Amino acid sequence: MPATEEDLLPHYPFSDRGDRLAPELRDLQRRCPVARVRTNAGGEAWLVTGYEPAQHVLRERKFARSALAGPDGPTQDAPILAPELLDAMGYLQRAGLRDEVLKALGRAQPCLPAEWVAQVTREGLDAMVEAGGPGDLQHHFAEWVAARCMCRTLGLPFEDRHWLAERADLDLTMVTPTNEELARNWEELRLYMHQHITARPAEPRGLLDRLADLNDRRRGLDDKQLSNIAALLFVTSYEDFASFLGVAAVHLLQYPEVIDGLRARPDTMPQCVEELLRHGVVLGNAIPRFVTQDDKLGDVSVKEGDLILLSLDAVNYDPDAFPRPGSFDPARSPNPHLRFGYGRHHCPGAHLVRRQSETAFATLLEHLPGIRLAVPADEVPWVPNRMAIMPAAVPVMW
Ligand code: HEM
Repeated sequence: MPATEEDLLPHYPFSDRGDRLAPELRDLQRRCPVARVRTNAGGEAWLVTGYEPAQHVLRERKFARSALAGPDGPTQDAPILAPELLDAMGYLQRAGLRDEVLKALGRAQPCLPAEWVAQVTREGLDAMVEAGGPGDLQHHFAEWVAARCMCRTLGLPFEDRHWLAERADLDLTMVTPTNEELARNWEELRLYMHQHITARPAEPRGLLDRLADLNDRRRGLDDKQLSNIAALLFVTSYEDFASFLGVAAVHLLQYPEVIDGLRARPDTMPQCVEELLRHGVVLGNAIPRFVTQDDKLGDVSVKEGDLILLSLDAVNYDPDAFPRPGSFDPARSPNPHLRFGYGRHHCPGAHLVRRQSETAFATLLEHLPGIRLAVPADEVPWVPNRMAIMPAAVPVMW
């Protein structure tokens, strides 16, 4: 039987490594920045790879995210298990708990003094050095720093990190598990959070206990909603942060002259982190939105009920927004990347990631002056089929 036009639709997602933009995304961006694709769930969607249409979608309320949790909503990858998982900040706001989250993650970050973050970063690196070279920065730096920072901020026991990370990893796997396995895995994580919060001591151990205390007084969320949101906060924060630190390490170590510049001018680290955020490819999937009212994206008419997928990685390589987008330029200015989204759902963890990444990378360069990749960058292994792209290892010598 001849293939129909629909069978020939490109199959999203395309990215499986963090050191380069997938050629399919680059090609779509050039030819057709709003393109029809097939999703993992077997349906169709518009994949947006252009900066301008992506910003439009993120800005306009007619492109909604919470609507995707409805029973008839189109599916991107796996089914959404509960509506609060798609609109956590909305649920927290209506329950009067949003400010508490912003206080913990915002500019001040009272739980994460810079000296403490530098100290735990050194501890991870020392453990790597003690084990002998080549070492693995993904394990001893990216996952270590992300787990230390997020367990402390949320108030979770650090000794549970392996159990927690295993469940978070499975949740972000796009292909292997069945929907039943995914749902079972999530329920284990949710129950863990429920028990953790229920058994809390009088003195809060971190953000999750403070949210539970406040919620006891206001009763804005039921137990299931609160534990679902607690699990989401761990999964999204740990996975996205560990993924970014690993991908960024692979990038930075390819530019010894940039590293020399950072050592000579430590005050340029924040600008360099911005470029690492733009240049690293960290989204294995894409950010979804549901069209609630017909609109136009450039020449393309999108209709109520359509699914839109935003490839923020591709968007950050749009030559109309970033001159010479393929070049890693630590002095790039302006650098209006959309790594943390834009508008209503802009990532509340952005300050934390920026601040703690600056400290972690400054500590890495200072503590191990000879740090370098132990394999050619092309041979860094990547974990397949992940929503948050992650190196399987970052082999280094020092
Ligand atoms: C490099 C690491 C991170 C990246 C790349 C990242 C990226 C993003 C992006 C793109 C969005 C917008 C999603 C959308 O518009 O649909 C988002 C939302 C969100 N992020 Fe992050 N994030 C990171 C770290 C964190 C951390 C550390 C936290 C801490 C808990 C966090 C919590 C959240 C939450 C709760 C939302 C939902 C916001 C809302 O719906 O209003 N993220 N993140």
